[in-house]
Amino acid sequence: GHVALVVGGDSAEREISLRGGQAVARGLEALGVQFSVVDGPRRLLEQVAAGHFDRVFNLLHGRGGEDGALQGALRLYGVPVTGSGVLGSALTMDKVQTKRVWQACDLPTPGWRLATSTDQVDAVLGALNLPLFVKPAREGSSIGMSRVNEPEQLAPAIERSLAHDASVLVEQLIEGREFTAAVLDGHVLPLIELRTGREFYDYEAKYESGDTEYVCPCGLPEALETRLARICREAFEVVGAAGWGRVDFMLDEAEQPWLLEVNTTPGMTEKSLMPMAARAAGIEFEELVWRILNRCRI
Ligand code: DAL
Ligand code: MG
Repeated sequence: GHVALVVGGDSAEREISLRGGQAVARGLEALGVQFSVVDGPRRLLEQVAAGHFDRVFNLLHGRGGEDGALQGALRLYGVPVTGSGVLGSALTMDKVQTKRVWQACDLPTPGWRLATSTDQVDAVLGALNLPLFVKPAREGSSIGMSRVNEPEQLAPAIERSLAHDASVLVEQLIEGREFTAAVLDGHVLPLIELRTGREFYDYEAKYESGDTEYVCPCGLPEALETRLARICREAFEVVGAAGWGRVDFMLDEAEQPWLLEVNTTPGMTEKSLMPMAARAAGIEFEELVWRILNRCRI
């Protein structure tokens, strides 16, 4: 059968998707998979409707590709797609809804408030302690995100996030170390610690600057890593995520994890974390691509 590799789209993370798409395309080629690269969900659906594909490798990031809409459309056509289904994709695209589910499941996530306008600054400052992170609820790659150290920085930070989404997550900043847990086929791969020289692990740090250090294997005591992996797997499952993905979290000084978010189509660029974690588990890039492709769901 013929596989569609869907990349790009018109989300803010378009460039990241295109970069990862080149790597995945090389992987599919090496695996001898017959595939076509398609730019964006609408073009994909046209070609799916014309019966061109019997499987979709989804590498779209952000709204329109990672948020359940495409997954729902493909389900109606009966064409399997990699990764999470409608519910898991839609839920995890929204960091606020994700945190609500985690809290209902007694999973640890930093304190937060939802803001929809700068009128809420005083209420937010009354409820949370500085410093804070301010993020669009449904965006990725740290786009529109700011760190707030002083009260007067909060209103402009909310404005910056509002440019990307009507819902803004204001989150308690956790002092500690930043980690990610890549999940593949129900297993958590070796954790990665991210050490950035920047104020936080922002877009520059993720894709451009060379001043972030990635530590994998991360060197945590085995019992701690096992405990963290178990929490991350549960955090992944309770939001309905499946197949492959990444759970980002902080670890405080008391060795308590604080869950931040789930990515259901993690970046696959040469600097991305999912391939790094896979490699640490002995899974080379091609095999990773193969395993993601073979866990398609309708
Ligand atoms: N949202 C980006 C692509 C990531 O999580 O890797
Ligand atoms: Mg994300």
